[in-house]
Amino acid sequence: MDTLSIIKPDDWHLHLRDSPYLQKILVHSANQFARAIIMPNLTPPVRNSNDAESYRQRILSALPQGSNFQPLMTLYLTDNTSLDDIHQAAESNSIVGLKLYPAGATTNSDAGVTDLKKMYPVFDAMQQRNLVLQVHGESNKKEVDIFDREKVFIEDSLDPVRRQFPELRIVFEHITTADAVDYVSSENSHLAATITPHHLLINRNDLFTGGIRPHHYCLPVAKREQHRLALITAATKGKANFFAGTDSAPHARNKKESSCGCAGIYSAFSAIELYAEAFEISQNFSNFEAFMSLNGPTFYQLPVNQDKITIQKSCWTLPTTLNYVDDELIPFKAGQTLQWRLIENA
Ligand code: DOR
Ligand code: ZN
Repeated sequence: MDTLSIIKPDDWHLHLRDSPYLQKILVHSANQFARAIIMPNLTPPVRNSNDAESYRQRILSALPQGSNFQPLMTLYLTDNTSLDDIHQAAESNSIVGLKLYPAGATTNSDAGVTDLKKMYPVFDAMQQRNLVLQVHGESNKKEVDIFDREKVFIEDSLDPVRRQFPELRIVFEHITTADAVDYVSSENSHLAATITPHHLLINRNDLFTGGIRPHHYCLPVAKREQHRLALITAATKGKANFFAGTDSAPHARNKKESSCGCAGIYSAFSAIELYAEAFEISQNFSNFEAFMSLNGPTFYQLPVNQDKITIQKSCWTLPTTLNYVDDELIPFKAGQTLQWRLIENA
């Protein structure tokens, strides 16, 4: 097999930032995907339907001419999110869900939720209005070891919310552990997980090969090899509640290569090819289309795309840098060779 055609994929977790960076990066996602869920962690965050609509308009204006790329918007949950905010979001045609950042857990999460219990009335309204809760699933307790924060979050936060709101549809974003794979696998159709290309391709050793590797630093941080292998199995075995979400999160080179480097890996430039690389490891592409293009729309109750894309098995080398306004962006796997290339995108 040296070419593969599948239904055009969507990116179920993407950071597009804002002008002028938005204009530099949007083209990469629009070249690859039909739709993407747009994360709301701008400064200030996207907190209500008005914020989301004006951000959506800025994204649409930044699209290359002729592009049909569709941004699906999310709101950022804060301690002050009101029931009115939820009802307005439910009335909007472009908002698909609300993002939970435990306060302080990751980049631009300071305005996030400080006490999950206080959000229960909001979750109740979301459950009633069929809005999806997207979760950054890491404990924000500083005393918890950084490599254990996802597992602790499942026990302390996610499972209690699942039990209290069994009909609330939840996406456990960018999972990194076998614990998360097991938890999501054991639940029903109301819980799903996104998996990034980088968590499928690197483990925590890759943060320290020959020295510290800031371009491999993201949150949740990459874990041990046994966890990466569990993610590969989850992605490739075709179970309906796992799907692609890149968490492509650009930071300028000088913000990554710094004494306090930002968390985030930029994968949007070659996201589909990176996922293909991960499936190549398992030597099994039979569920590639399900993971990339079918499971996401099914969970989000959206139509499956009509267009197709084709990838071809032919080696190519990623650029070492990309232009990023007044700085550079280092794409994931910069300067390295990938085995699959996107050759047709209808
Ligand atoms: O690595 C990350 N970068 N993880 C996140 O949760 C946020 C993201 C960002 O916005 O840079
Ligand atoms: Zn993210």
